[in-house]
Amino acid sequence: MPNGNIVVSEEHATRVVTLRRPNKKNAITQDMYREMSRAIDTAQNNPEIRCIIITGGSGVFTAGDDIDDFLKADTARPETLSNAAKFLYSLALNVKPIIAAVDGASVGMGTVLLFHCDYVLASTAATFSAPYINLGLIPVGASSLLMPNTMGYQRAFAMLVMGRTFSAEEARVAGFVNAVVSPGHTEVEARKVAREICRLPAEAVAISRKLLRTPPEQLTRRIDQEAHLFGERLKSNEAVAAFNAFMMRKRR
Ligand code: COA
Repeated sequence: MPNGNIVVSEEHATRVVTLRRPNKKNAITQDMYREMSRAIDTAQNNPEIRCIIITGGSGVFTAGDDIDDFLKADTARPETLSNAAKFLYSLALNVKPIIAAVDGASVGMGTVLLFHCDYVLASTAATFSAPYINLGLIPVGASSLLMPNTMGYQRAFAMLVMGRTFSAEEARVAGFVNAVVSPGHTEVEARKVAREICRLPAEAVAISRKLLRTPPEQLTRRIDQEAHLFGERLKSNEAVAAFNAFMMRKRR
C-alpha cells in the first residue's frame, strides 16, 4: 500500500520518485524503501519509461535510514530491515538511467544511492555524508566498492571511515555530482537532463550504459557482504548506544 511518503508520478517518459516526509527530513522507513523499490522495479520492463528521477523536493534530500527502524531491528528481528536490502538490489539491477536531484542534506543511504545513479544534480545548499561510522556502523549498498572507484580511495576514506561531510562543490570535484545549481532548481534541471536522455536512441543508451557500469553481480555480491557485517554491527554496543543517543538527544 502506498504510504504517502513516497510520491510517484510520470511525465515525458520519465518516472519521478519524490521522498516526502518533511517533518522527519525525509528519513527513509522500511515502507518507503518498499515503495521506492516498486517504482524502480516496475519501470524496468516498461518501454514507456526511459528515465527515473529521484528527488527529495526542496530543502532536504534525505536524512538516510530511519534510525527508529534501526532500533526496532535490533530487538532481534534484523529481517525487519529487508526492504532496504531489496531497494539496494533494485538499484544494482536497474537498467534505466537514474537522475538524482539533491537540494539540502543527503545523509547515509541518500548519499549511497547517488553512487548508483547516472547523473546527479546538487544545489549549492546540498551536503553529502555517509556517517555510518558515527553510529558504530559500516558502509552499505556497495558503497565500499563504488565510492573508492568513483572518487578515489582517500576521499572515500574521508567520507566512509571518518564520517566527513562534503559540500556540493567538493562533491562535484570528487566526481559524483555532475552540476551545481541554485537552491530550488535541482528538479527543473533534472527534468531537462531527463528530456535530453529521452531524446537519445533508447537501445544505444541502454547498451552504452551497461558497458560503463560496474556489473550487477559484482554490486550484489558486495551488497551481501556489507549487509552481513552491517547486521552484526546493528547489535553491537557501539551502535545501540549511538541510536539511543540520537533518539534521546532532544529530550535531555
Ligand atoms: N531517523 C529518524 N528520525 C530522523 C532522522 C533519521 N535518520 N533524521 C532526522 N530525524 C528526525 C529528528 O528526530 C527530528 O524529529 P522530531 O522533530 O520529532 O524530534 C526531525 O527529523 C528533524 O530533525 P532535526 O535533526 O531537528 O533537523 P536538522 O535540520 O537540525 O538536522 C539532519 C537535519 C539530517 C542533519 C539531522 O536530522 C541528522 O543528522 N539526522 C540523522 C542522520 C543520520 O545519522 N542518518 C543515518 C545515517 S547512517
